Amino acid sequence: MEYKCDIEEILKKYPNATRDTLVPILQDVQNVCGCLSREAVIRIGAYLRLPASSVYGVATFYNQFRFRPTGKYHILVCRGTSCHVKGASNLLLLLCAKLGIREDGVPTKDGLFSLEAVPCIGACGLGPVMSVNGKLYAGIDSEEKLNAVLKECRSLRDLENGVVR
Ligand code: FES
Repeated sequence: MEYKCDIEEILKKYPNATRDTLVPILQDVQNVCGCLSREAVIRIGAYLRLPASSVYGVATFYNQFRFRPTGKYHILVCRGTSCHVKGASNLLLLLCAKLGIREDGVPTKDGLFSLEAVPCIGACGLGPVMSVNGKLYAGIDSEEKLNAVLKECRSLRDLENGVVR
């Protein structure tokens, strides 16, 4: 996914930044840039007068942070206990097979999708659950339902690209 990423613009929002604002800054940078690049970690460290290793240490502590770009549509599949019981493993296998990727966050060749398995999305009664760019999809217990979600993503991409079908 392509991002217009200007870290300096983000840092301007934190004129009196201290170590306490590190996590919000990391979140902002990831939201705008798609991930925390090596350069971003170094720049944030310099801005906060912290060693890059400390910034990296904090970022790796939280599993919300990513260090490489995701696909345009980043899919999270819950593999918490409740979703597992309801078939989350099948959902993951199906997604891997359909998209030709693994659950390691590395995007498809066209950059459209990436996939990660996560411990719990917080909708345990609605499993199996997945989210796409933060939008929740509940009860994805069949190939048809999964196809509908993927189709929705491709339609959105086409809409953005002005493709008429
Ligand atoms: S176990 Fe899947 S949302 Fe919590």
